[in-house]
Amino acid sequence: MGLALEGKRAFIAGVADDGGFGFAIARALAEAGCKVSVGTWPPALGIFETMLARGKLDASRRLSDGSLLSFELIVPLDADYDSWEDVPEEVRTHRRYRDRGDFTVFGAACRCREAFGEHAFEVVVHAIANGPEVRRPLLETSRKGYLAALSTSAYSFVSLVRHFGPLVRPGGSFITISYLAAERVVPGYGGGMSSAKAALESDTRVLAYEAGRKWGHRVNAISAGPFASRAASAIGTIGKMITYYAHASPLEGALTAQEVADVALFLASPLSRGLTGCVLHVDRGYHSMGVPHDLERWVDTLFPPASPQESGRDA
Ligand SMILES: NC(=O)c1ccc[n+]([C@@H]2O[C@H](COP(=O)([O-])OP(=O)(O)OC[C@H]3O[C@@H](n4cnc5c(N)ncnc54)[C@H](O)[C@@H]3O)[C@@H](O)[C@H]2O)c1
Repeated sequence: MGLALEGKRAFIAGVADDGGFGFAIARALAEAGCKVSVGTWPPALGIFETMLARGKLDASRRLSDGSLLSFELIVPLDADYDSWEDVPEEVRTHRRYRDRGDFTVFGAACRCREAFGEHAFEVVVHAIANGPEVRRPLLETSRKGYLAALSTSAYSFVSLVRHFGPLVRPGGSFITISYLAAERVVPGYGGGMSSAKAALESDTRVLAYEAGRKWGHRVNAISAGPFASRAASAIGTIGKMITYYAHASPLEGALTAQEVADVALFLASPLSRGLTGCVLHVDRGYHSMGVPHDLERWVDTLFPPASPQESGRDA
C-alpha cells in the first residue's frame, strides 16, 4: 500500500508564509497528489495573499514535477473564536478583519462545506500556536497570558476537530504539532506555552478516543524539534536551541521542516491506519537523551576544575 493520497483533500490550519511546518506539510501533501486548502490568521492573510500574487513564494512552491503548489481554498481563520457570537466588536471592526466575513473556526468549516461538501477531507492539520508571554517564566506569567496561550495553542485543536470532524471522510486523519516542553522543562519556553503543549498532547489522546468512536477518525501529534519558523522566532533563544539540538541529538544536524512533513505524510496516509492517540517525536532523537553526549567537555568548560592550590587540597 502506498500513501494513497492522490486526489484527496487536506486542510491545514496555520499557514501564512513559507517558513513553517504548516507550509512544509502542504508541500509534502501536494507532492503526494493531495489538493490542499489552508486557514490563515486574518492579520497575516493580506501579506500572505500579496506574497503569493507577487510570486515571492514561487521558489518554495515549486514541486518536483515543475508545477507550483496551489491552494484550492484560502480561508480566513482566527482560531481564538469558535463562532461569530464569540468575536468582540473591536475585532469585527478591525481593518484586518472587517472585510473577511466569518473567520471563526465554525465559519472556516462552513466555507469548506460550501466549497467541497461533507466528507471532503482526508486530513486536517493543526499548525497553530501563540503565547503572548512566551518569554516570561511561568512564575511571572499573568493569568491572561497563560489562558491566551492555552486558547490559541491547545483549545483551537479541540475546536478544529469538533467543527471539521463532519467534513472529514470516516477514517481520516487529524494531526497537530507539539513540542518536548509538554513533558520536560525547557527554560525559555514560558508564558504557559509548556502548559498549552501538555494540554495539546493530552487532548490528542482524548480526541483520538472521542473522534474515533464518533466518526472513525484518527488524531495524532508530532512533537517536533526546534526549527526557525516565524512563530519560533518569538522564543528569544531559538537559534541557540537549534544549534544545541543539532549537536546533542543522536542524529547530528539541524532538523528540517521536510523531516516533520514526511512524518505528517505518513500520519495522513492509510499506512498509519492503526495509529491514533500517539505523540511521535520528530526531533532527530533528541527527546531520548538524558545527558549531553559530550558531558565532560560541557562540565570542564562551564565549571573548570579548581587547581589543587585554589581548592586547598593536597596535590
Ligand atoms: N518551530 C519550532 O521550533 C516548533 C517546534 C515544535 C512545535 N512547533 C509547533 O509547530 C506549529 C506550527 O508552528 P511553526 O513553528 O511552524 O510556525 P508558523 O509561524 O509557521 O505557524 C504558526 C501559525 O499560527 C498562526 N496563528 C497564530 N495565532 C493564530 C490564531 N489565533 N488563529 C489562527 N492562526 C494563528 C500564525 O499565523 C502562523 O501561521 C505550532 O503549533 C508550533 O508550536 C514548532
